[in-house]
Parts: sequence; C-alpha cells; structure tokens
Amino acid sequence: MGKSLSLVIPTYRERENIAELVRRIGESLPGIDYEIVIVDDDSNDGTAELIGELSSRYPVRILVRKDKKGLASAVVNGLGVADSRIVGVLDADLQHPPEIIPNLLTAIHEGSEVAIGSRYVEGGGCEGWSLIRRIVSKGAIFLAHLFLPSTRKVSDPMSGFFMLDTGLIAHVRLEPTGYKILLEILLLAKPQRVTEVPFVFRARERGESKLRLSQQVDYLKHVASLMRRTGEWTRFARFCLVGGSGVIVNMGLLWLLTEYVGLFYLVSAIISIETSIITNFTLNDFFTFPDRRARGFRCFVTRLLKFNLVSLGGLAINLAVLWTLTSVLGVFYLVSNLFGIATATLWNYMVNSWWTWK
Ligand code: GDD
Ligand code: MN
Repeated sequence: MGKSLSLVIPTYRERENIAELVRRIGESLPGIDYEIVIVDDDSNDGTAELIGELSSRYPVRILVRKDKKGLASAVVNGLGVADSRIVGVLDADLQHPPEIIPNLLTAIHEGSEVAIGSRYVEGGGCEGWSLIRRIVSKGAIFLAHLFLPSTRKVSDPMSGFFMLDTGLIAHVRLEPTGYKILLEILLLAKPQRVTEVPFVFRARERGESKLRLSQQVDYLKHVASLMRRTGEWTRFARFCLVGGSGVIVNMGLLWLLTEYVGLFYLVSAIISIETSIITNFTLNDFFTFPDRRARGFRCFVTRLLKFNLVSLGGLAINLAVLWTLTSVLGVFYLVSNLFGIATATLWNYMVNSWWTWK
C-alpha cells in the first residue's frame, strides 16, 4: 500500500472526458500522494493511448478488460488492484465533480468507513434532470429502502461517487450485477459509520450515457439478489407463511360464522379478519421481525396498534376486492376472499416493514 489515496474510475468510451478529468483531479488534490486507476472495458476509442500519454505527467494507469463486463464489476476489479487502503470511486464523464473528492477524503480521515457523494442531502442535487428521470431515480431509492431496510439511513444509496476504507470490504465477497456497486458494499459490508457529502450531479457535456432500459432490469435483479443474500427474502417468505396461517384462521372462521352461525358473509369477514390480524401480529413479532423489535411492553403495544392500523387499510383493500369480485363479478365469496387476502398481504408487508418494525 504505497499511496495515500487511489481513485478507481470505470470507463466505457469516455476518451473525450479523460484529459479534463485527470487534470481537474490533479488540481483538486495538491500535496496528496494519489493514483488514478482507470478500468476500461475495451472501449477501443483511443482511451488507452491517451492514458499512456497522460501517465508521463499524472499518476494514472489503465486496466483494460477484454470484454464488456459492466460498471460495477469494473469497480470491483479496480478495488482489487488499488495501491492504497483508501479508495475513491467516481464516473469518468465529469458528472461527479472531482472538486468534491477532498470533502470525501476529509470524511474518511474523520473516521467514516464510507463517505458518499450524495444528491439527496442538503446542498446536493441534479442538474437539468427531467421530471421522469427524477421519478425513476427516487423510485429506485424507494425500492431499496423498502426491500433492503439497512439502506434506509442512506439517502442516496445509488450514488456511484464514494470513498471507502477498504479494510471494510477485506473479507466481503462482492458480486454485483449491473451498476450499483455502492448498494452491494453497504449491504454486505454493513458499515457503521457512513457520511453523506452533498454534491450536484452535473449534466453530461461530452460522450453519451450508457444507461439503458436493461440496466433498470438489472437493478431489479440486483435488489432481488441482495434480498436473497441478506436474508430479506427469508423474511418476506416468513411474512407470507404467517399470512398463510392467517388465511387458515380467516377462512375457517369466515366459513364457520357464515355457514353455522348464519351471519351475512361480510359481517363474518370482518370478525374473521380482525382475529387473524391479532394472530398474525403476534407471530410476525416473534418470527418475522425479531431483529427489529424494541423490547418492553409499551413498544409491543405500540407495534400492535400500528399493525392494527395498517391492517385496517389491509381490511379495506381486502373487503373492496372481496365485494368487487363477489357482488360485481359473481365470483364465489371464498375464492374472492383469497384474492382479497393476497392484495392485502402485499400492502401489509410494505407498510409494516416501513413503519411498524422500522
Ligand atoms: N468499465 C466500464 N464498463 N465502465 C462503464 C460501463 C461498463 O460497462 N458502463 C458505464 N461505464 C462508465 C462510464 O464510462 C462512466 O464513467 C460511468 O461508468 C457512468 O456511466 P454513465 O453511463 O455516465 O452512467 P449514468 O450517468 O447514467 O449513471 C451514473 O449515475 C448514477 C446516479 O444516477 C453512474 O455514476 C451511476 O453509478 C450512478 O449511480
Ligand atoms: Mn454519467
């Protein structure tokens, strides 16, 4: 480990941006013994030759990979060859202003394990983004926050601009799919001290974005894979299993009350749903969210009340589906109720995971 800072920069067809990037990094880091590692996916656009020229004036080298394996894996390769314990990662297209690097470095020197260049903290932002792009970006973050709860304390887990102390990932196997390497690091290395440093994501002036629809699909796959690797799938499966036990309570009681007690099926439904809410809550508290359960009777009661409130929404959804299918579409009421329960389960999982067991 000879340097005090390594900067890993993934590139694919960024020749037009490289010279300015390298120069601005140099200006931003006076007196710091840094190196730049460009990880290029065989762009064949003269990037390698240009780096060769620049290397006589700047501490820059290039790693050319033979086939295009993607941004996140390029970063993993770069981390592997870096000559410093502290590594910064940024894009080559100047959308991540190199002038922010010293702020990230300060955060690391002050004890953060990961410092994130963030668009969504006070002082950060995105230059010239359309409403659609904003919604997609926020939607992606929302999905991460929803299904990967440990990202909730980070407002921009999608950022590709960050710095870390690589001691953090020494024993972690990073296997990212697609673009979001930071997400992978946050979830698998579980840093305790994360700092977000505001920056404005600049508009791209030269070259083209490589973002395609397929990357949105890759992102969803990545979230699913992280859910699997961090046990969040198991949690969801448990929630469904508990839900399944609730279905038995719910359906059994609905049938009993309707057929034997002679209640109108909607009245039976209300009673059987509330009963299953209480059994579901108790099971989820011990079985699904044991790690997110604050101790003490008061907290237990608060959660029970929240769960009930959430379930009230679920109840409304359940009844609406039950009524629509049964009274409007003529479906047998027990079958309608199954659909009602499925819809309500999704709603319940999302809101409870967000609010009840936060
Ligand atoms: N080695 C390699 N291989 N580099 C790649 C590849 C690849 O397959 N695809 C893209 N890159 C490089 C680009 O050359 C650029 O330096 C950087 O990765 C980002 O690619 P862009 O195509 O400019 O991405 P973007 O601007 O849409 O997305 C950026 O913004 C996101 C936040 O909205 C990226 O920085 C993301 O990491 C960031 O999360
Ligand atoms: Mn870009």
